Amino acid sequence: MSDVVIVGAQWGDEGKGKIVDVYTERARIVARYQGGHNAGHTVVVGDETFILHLIPSGILHEGKICVIGNGVVVAPDALVREMETLAARNISVEGKLFISDRAHLIMPYHVALDLAREGRSLEKAIGTTGRGIGPAYEDKAARSGIRVGDLLNPDVFRERLSDALEFKNFILKEYFGAEGFDEEEVYDSIMALAEQFRHFITDTGELLQKAIHEGRNILFEGAQGSHLDVDHGTYPYVTSSSTVAGGACTGTGIGPRCIDAVVGISKAYTTRVGSGPFPTELSDEMGERIRNIGGEYGATTGRPRRCGWFDAVVVRQSARLSTMTGLVITKLDVLDGIDPIRICVGYECGGRRFDLVPSGLRELEGCLPVYEDHPGWSRPTAGCREWDDLPREARSYIRRIEDLTGVRVAAVSTGQERSEHIELFDPFQVVIPGK
Ligand code: GDP
Ligand code: IMO
Ligand code: MG
Repeated sequence: MSDVVIVGAQWGDEGKGKIVDVYTERARIVARYQGGHNAGHTVVVGDETFILHLIPSGILHEGKICVIGNGVVVAPDALVREMETLAARNISVEGKLFISDRAHLIMPYHVALDLAREGRSLEKAIGTTGRGIGPAYEDKAARSGIRVGDLLNPDVFRERLSDALEFKNFILKEYFGAEGFDEEEVYDSIMALAEQFRHFITDTGELLQKAIHEGRNILFEGAQGSHLDVDHGTYPYVTSSSTVAGGACTGTGIGPRCIDAVVGISKAYTTRVGSGPFPTELSDEMGERIRNIGGEYGATTGRPRRCGWFDAVVVRQSARLSTMTGLVITKLDVLDGIDPIRICVGYECGGRRFDLVPSGLRELEGCLPVYEDHPGWSRPTAGCREWDDLPREARSYIRRIEDLTGVRVAAVSTGQERSEHIELFDPFQVVIPGK
């Protein structure tokens, strides 16, 4: 029995969706534990592309259970839209999807507040996805949130909505000079949407604990990346949830000793969407080349992603934050034909050397990457499925990443399609040392 957490090792968009889809075969349940529809997880099956935002990427497999855990923030309209999009492609969520009654709702006023705040100053904007994620988590912590389970009790829902709107409308109108919301309209629209998913609402913590007791394999699907974590990321340029592996416990209701393995997903280079420090960013032709070849445009907002060299400092830190037992390197094929390929092995700032990411924003902004050049390869890796078929330089690039991050590589992904990867070991068979 193995319970495996998948976590983004960089700033998101590492290819988690693809890898979760690959590993779903080995699990009974796939559970999302944090974030919301700010996530965009791409899965390519044959010539079909699916982008999942809120529903776990395991949904494309028959006979698997998908859980939206208590740590996720759920926008009813986004959920229903995603269910409809899947249904139009003959994928039903009936009997497969379960939503935590403890998960918090993203309400229309959360979206309005997110947009109003971001619109105030371009310079100070976080570059959020504008989905209302931050304001929804703020309400959760402020104890003024509304939970998915409240939808099952109209009186409670009405009361909580009424209390929330009194304050939100004041802020929206008086502080931001924006439009407020009509209680009746919000109530009716959310209740109408809830009709379409109320039968999926349950105590998913209990469901997962029971499955663990029965010895079922569970795959926990992280969203965003370790450096967008609200505690450990490049604060304040982060998202508002715990994206590291610890979030899988608080975000689903299982204890830390249930986790057997943690797999970090990292690109063979680095990308970031939105604002915030990015030491290895390439603002030149090389950055443009990686963006074009890698198709580096956001799966949720379509924004161009900032691109740069692989940063071992970032991934090393992520590995420690989540006790990673394995790493999956994706998009190796995007580096085909680039020579040399640079790897950032440390930072230098004011005469000091850093092997981990400093916590101060100003300090990090002042950090210069220390690079090591690595020979590129002339034979393409695209679509490669065997380790021995990789060019020698590509193999040594992967081995160097292992040395620098201190984590063994479990798989290398060489293309978008489900089957385009090389497996080095099965994370479901390896347990955390000392466990
Ligand atoms: P996620 O948010 O971590 O699931 O990642 P996204 O789906 O936002 O972005 C990753 C993108 O890279 C998607 O378009 C994937 O189809 C694509 N992708 C994943 N693995 C590979 C790979 O090994 N090679 C190439 N070329 N594309 C990949
Ligand atoms: P997946 O799961 C990449 C970024 C936003 C912004 C910051 C805060 O596909 O990897 P938010 O809307 O969460 O308040 O925005 O976080 N961000 C992501 N970047 N991938 C994601 O998800 C992201 N989700 C949020 O661009 O910088
Ligand atoms: Mg994404």
